Amino acid sequence: MDFQGDIGLIGLAVMGENLVMNLAGHHYQVAVFNRTVDKVEKFVNGRGKTPSIAGCRSLPELVRALKRPRRVMMMVRAGTAVDELIDQLLPLLEPGDVVIDGGNSHYTDTRRRTRKVEAAGLLYVGAGISGGELGALNGPSIMPGGSAAAWPLLREMFQAIAAQLPDDLPCCDWIGPDGAGHYVKMVHNGIEYADMQLIAETYEVLRKMGKLTPEAIAGVFGEWNRGALNSYLLEITAEILRKVDPVTEKPLIDVILDCAGQKGTGRWTADSALELGVPLSGIIEAVQARSLSDDKARREMSARLLPGPALRPAAVSDQWLAQVRSALYVAKIAVYAQGFQLLKRAAKEFGWPLDYGRIAGLWRGGCIIRAIFLNEITAAYRRNPELDNLLLDEFFRRAAAEGQEAWRRTAAAAALSGVAAPVLSATLNWYDGLRTAESAANLIQAQRDYFGAHTYERTDAPRGKFFHTVWSEAGGGTVSGSYDA
Ligand code: 6PG
Repeated sequence: MDFQGDIGLIGLAVMGENLVMNLAGHHYQVAVFNRTVDKVEKFVNGRGKTPSIAGCRSLPELVRALKRPRRVMMMVRAGTAVDELIDQLLPLLEPGDVVIDGGNSHYTDTRRRTRKVEAAGLLYVGAGISGGELGALNGPSIMPGGSAAAWPLLREMFQAIAAQLPDDLPCCDWIGPDGAGHYVKMVHNGIEYADMQLIAETYEVLRKMGKLTPEAIAGVFGEWNRGALNSYLLEITAEILRKVDPVTEKPLIDVILDCAGQKGTGRWTADSALELGVPLSGIIEAVQARSLSDDKARREMSARLLPGPALRPAAVSDQWLAQVRSALYVAKIAVYAQGFQLLKRAAKEFGWPLDYGRIAGLWRGGCIIRAIFLNEITAAYRRNPELDNLLLDEFFRRAAAEGQEAWRRTAAAAALSGVAAPVLSATLNWYDGLRTAESAANLIQAQRDYFGAHTYERTDAPRGKFFHTVWSEAGGGTVSGSYDA
């Protein structure tokens, strides 16, 4: 074959196909392969029928169709399929070639695979890609990480096909070593979960307490979308709420079963936060809200048996709507503040030199959480690259000062009406915990010391010096240092 492919793409599911079309649309020559070969035939004889795309019937044929150093991108289901493909590709490739995983792989797998592929003399890249089907076709946000030497070989191509913002750099940049790209994409998805849940909670408040119709809420969200809350997720929510079911002629939202699915990236983010000891209540509650939603039978039974308060309807006014809007805005800031703290902690743990301002910039376009508000995050990290917590930045501190009352009122009103708003209230609790200089954790320490001789530090002694009290005669003299796990 005399086809001189710039890149080979394996896996012609919808994301893979759309990325190929995007690459070909930018004048790159793309060789494609799919395990079910019929799919290749169908694609290259259908929407992929252009001289820029060559269909291959085997991996060796795909590899032969590529320029050196070869760039091979896998767009297959995360998990063992990726490992199997790497094993098949390695003997076919040469030192200096690049293997790219564009799926939603777990970052620990990407760390392991980078080591393995680099040990064979090749380069490995785990690239998080966000934006769904349309993003893949028209310009996604791309978050590549792995072997640094691969970046000069991919930069031009990846930045060309990524989302472009008129006033900024393309929505693709090098994230960092080994699993950094997939980690950042994972946190993006975690934020996506919390962002979606916050919009859903706000919808429920407006629907149940304000008694607004889906169409009226679409109007409210459309209005909010013109201001600081402007985001893709709010925009599509307004559109969703206007959709009418052709069968029942009811709002389509009312005939969609309230059981939310999840593929795992939100839970991975939560797992990582728990492992690294970073408070991430917004995202964790969003993951748990999906799990609870999926337990429909138990919810239906409990709805009949468990007592709750009578709903207290809200007097709908511009002021009330502004209050709910502010609550959504400040809780969203808290979700991002937690997400970026997780990134910061992971960077330290794994030795990744992450550029937080640039990461926020990559999320401004193409991806699911794209939002105007990300400009402010970039600006905050430009002002202070060492910023410890977004909320401590002057812009966000002011936003919290202006919105906290509305946040409290909305969370409290929902609680008093028995309307669950887990992310709205969990983030508020985190916020208050964060601003509590003297907390009740001294009591936790005393309890630990009482039942397990785990020791405690004193307010009048230097940090790191531990004390134990014999709390009761029955206690014995052991301190935890002697048996702690
Ligand atoms: C994206 C999305 C994408 C996908 C999620 C959905 O950034 O383009 O996040 O990765 O839609 O995997 O995840 P759930 O099925 O878990 O909601």
